[in-house]
Amino acid sequence: MSVDLLLGLQWGDEGKGKIVDVLTKDYDIIARFQGGPNAGHTLKFDGISHVLHTIPSGIFHPSALNIIGNGVVIDPVIFKGELDKLAPFNIDFAKKLFVSKKAHLILPTHRLLDAASEAAKGKAKIGSTLKGIGPTYMDKTGRNGIRVGDILLSDWKLRYEALRDKHLKMLSHYESQIDFDLASLEATFFESLETLKELPLIDSEDFLHTAQREQKKILAEGAQGSLLDVDFGTYPFVTSSTTTAAGACTGLGIAPNTVGEVYGIFKAYTTRVGSGPFPTELFDEDGETMGRVGQEFGATTGRARRCGWIDLVALKYAIRVNGVTQLMMMKGDVLSGFETIKVCTAYATAEGEIEHFPFSIEPENVSPVYIELPGWEEDLTQLTAEDQFPASFSAYIAYLEKELETPIKIVSVGPDRKQTIFR
Ligand code: GDP
Ligand code: IMO
Ligand code: MG
Repeated sequence: MSVDLLLGLQWGDEGKGKIVDVLTKDYDIIARFQGGPNAGHTLKFDGISHVLHTIPSGIFHPSALNIIGNGVVIDPVIFKGELDKLAPFNIDFAKKLFVSKKAHLILPTHRLLDAASEAAKGKAKIGSTLKGIGPTYMDKTGRNGIRVGDILLSDWKLRYEALRDKHLKMLSHYESQIDFDLASLEATFFESLETLKELPLIDSEDFLHTAQREQKKILAEGAQGSLLDVDFGTYPFVTSSTTTAAGACTGLGIAPNTVGEVYGIFKAYTTRVGSGPFPTELFDEDGETMGRVGQEFGATTGRARRCGWIDLVALKYAIRVNGVTQLMMMKGDVLSGFETIKVCTAYATAEGEIEHFPFSIEPENVSPVYIELPGWEEDLTQLTAEDQFPASFSAYIAYLEKELETPIKIVSVGPDRKQTIFR
């Protein structure tokens, strides 16, 4: 049985959590394959709003199993906090939540290194969520990391101490020192590891291969978005993992020729949180309106998200890199009331207009070329079917489908599970 993928096509926060939650009823297994607690996936149903960071967004459904794959990096402290917050839902984690032994652990000193590195960068800072993501993936590829399975080994403490001491030496090299209380950080870390140990720690690639043979339906849930991919994103203002389709193969051990549908999810406009270039960013009232109506504040850090018009150059690029087969458009409701909607169709450069996503999209190299489409006044949040769409909203969708050469199968008109229209 093939594995379907759900991937963010912009700079993250497209609404992945909501859609995974909506789709889970059709799947047996939901698996996260990269990223870590830098992610914040919001789910809304029955008047409840819940944010998940490490736990897959299928966790609220009665039957689906949830897997944290080898490509994910786990902070046991944040993970325990997530489990604690789920206590009112009476979920039997030992039966529903499985963790790869090959997933890497975020140590307290990884977080400190992230903070020190960002502070040292000054104005050039990435705008990291400071969850220790970069340093943990650096240790993984540098072959120094500690994996979940290591905590079951008898010499695990020695391994931990060796890496911690190395980190402390690295920290001492930074010019401006950050304050921390290591003893207290370590106490919380070790206590939280006990909670992690209570879950089934598995060889997740084998678990998934067996599930595939048994014809189980599997959905891989991406974190972040294609424009934050370490290779294809706006480097260096990216995260440290492969957020694109290939990341699902390395982050779960599934073979590329067993990938089925690739769902690409995007907002009807664009947002970005943290530093880095963003050609269609708005600094005017329109951008302020998008942020206010769309409640664009980071689900992990609470930072205000930067807002701007939709960027088809970037979206086409993301669709190609991922091999997207179906699109899902989120937050169309936020654009109600704009007289005209702008769509970026090309970038103006010193060499003329281009339609491909170039090496650099810094403002000195590209500026957006827009076309304008008529907006709509109507509130979309109560709509339940496509035939109720205002004509201009339907025209916007039709235009995007034509340009992106990919069908838009889901239109979301509000944060709740119910505000989801299938086409
Ligand atoms: P994720 O990281 O991709 O899961 O997305 P986030 O949860 O970080 O951010 C998406 C935000 O938009 C959350 O607050 C959602 O509740 C909200 N949201 C999702 N879909 C819609 C929609 O169609 N309309 C509106 N107004 N809000 C939405
Ligand atoms: P979800 O899964 C939006 C951004 C950070 C920063 C850059 C690097 O909720 O879509 P990192 O902490 O990874 O070192 O930060 O990436 N970033 C996200 N932006 N949504 C996310 O996840 C993000 N995860 C990281 O703001 O610019
Ligand atoms: Mg998010």
